[in-house]
Amino acid sequence: MLNVDSNNVLAGKIGSGNGIKDTELSVLCDKYQPLVGKVFAAKKQAGYNFLELPGDMTLLRKIKKFADEQAKQKWENIVVLGIGGSALGAIAIRDALLKPFQQTPRLHIVDNIDPAYLSALLSSIQISKSLFVVISKSGTTTEPMVQYAVIKEMLMKKHPKNYQKHLVFITDPKSGLLRKMAEKEGIVTFDVPQKVGGRFSVLSSVGLLPAALAGVDISGLLRGARDITESIKKLKGVNNPALLLATLQYFMDQKRSKSMTVLMPYSNHLFRLGDWYRQLLAESIGKNPTTGPTPINALGTTDQHSQLQLYVEGPNNKLIIFFRVLKHAKDFMVPNVLPKEIGQLNNKSMSRILDASYLGTAESLAKASRPNLTIEVPKIDAKNMGALFMLFEFQVALLGLLYKVDAFNQPGVEHSKTITKQLLS
Ligand code: PA5
Repeated sequence: MLNVDSNNVLAGKIGSGNGIKDTELSVLCDKYQPLVGKVFAAKKQAGYNFLELPGDMTLLRKIKKFADEQAKQKWENIVVLGIGGSALGAIAIRDALLKPFQQTPRLHIVDNIDPAYLSALLSSIQISKSLFVVISKSGTTTEPMVQYAVIKEMLMKKHPKNYQKHLVFITDPKSGLLRKMAEKEGIVTFDVPQKVGGRFSVLSSVGLLPAALAGVDISGLLRGARDITESIKKLKGVNNPALLLATLQYFMDQKRSKSMTVLMPYSNHLFRLGDWYRQLLAESIGKNPTTGPTPINALGTTDQHSQLQLYVEGPNNKLIIFFRVLKHAKDFMVPNVLPKEIGQLNNKSMSRILDASYLGTAESLAKASRPNLTIEVPKIDAKNMGALFMLFEFQVALLGLLYKVDAFNQPGVEHSKTITKQLLS
């Protein structure tokens, strides 16, 4: 079970100018408690229906069946073509749950239209041994369409009779060009559930299908999401992790001028979860000049040697959220070979040194009156990843209510898409 440690935001620890009294935190969480009920009550409504995704057992079975069939093809590569909410969840899952250097099939996610990158990828894989998953809810977004055009031509040259075998589309059940193309050309298609926004869609086929094709335990992802949903429903006040996170982030931004939120996992596997969260927070809450903490990604210990100076002594305008992994999948003992000047490292496990680095960083920030909190993750597995996705989605839905913005639209993004299309016309 995930745990949120909020000691280092308390006024008793970091002072009342930057922190919050524990009594005030309790009062605020109790005051906002009804918002939790509001989110649950809205779960059939557009946007909020992300809450229904983890319970879709029919979809789970369908995806598993398809993934089992595809496993017989012995694909070497699963290549996702998509952008934003159609790519970031799969990236976070891949980096957390798959073995980065030895996985087959390898899961590649092309989330840009950088020609040099696409060319480098295509020259390092055999197209005949690759399955391409094209994901676009709207079915019209420039990036996946351009990527797809390049791939489709290559596939048609190489496999003119059965290029469709190398393609799966994930798109809106009814509308959009991708849907039309699939129907015309007989390409297997999965649905992006209607009214679920891209950045809330990781627990639909958008995140689950690429994950299942690459061998991830997608039942575990959904189970973790369901379990934390139950906790969020049951737990009250400061004991409710989503409510506590939303309350603190809102309070720190509005009352303590912490207009930036840093996500800093002490785990490489969780680093790209920060990219997924960055979109979730930015697109959902950044709706007018006074709403929306700016999300920033960092990695422990790496960024202790890069950004920490700024966090400790620069502008005190950040809320830092650490992830502390309690049990790492593998560990090393540092052999007793280092000179006595750094002898404290000898015979220590690497995970212990990593954890001491986290503790030292959190403490040094607290001593400098910088608010920080920690999400403790028992271990990185499918269940906890599912729980993290749902925890943050729920937290951001609550933030939408606190900031009084529509957390589920993205007019600013649509605007740029329209202008780009006009420029190319
Ligand atoms: O959250 C969102 O809705 C957006 O960021 C989209 O995910 C992104 O723009 C990609 O859109 P689409 O899936 O329609 O291609």
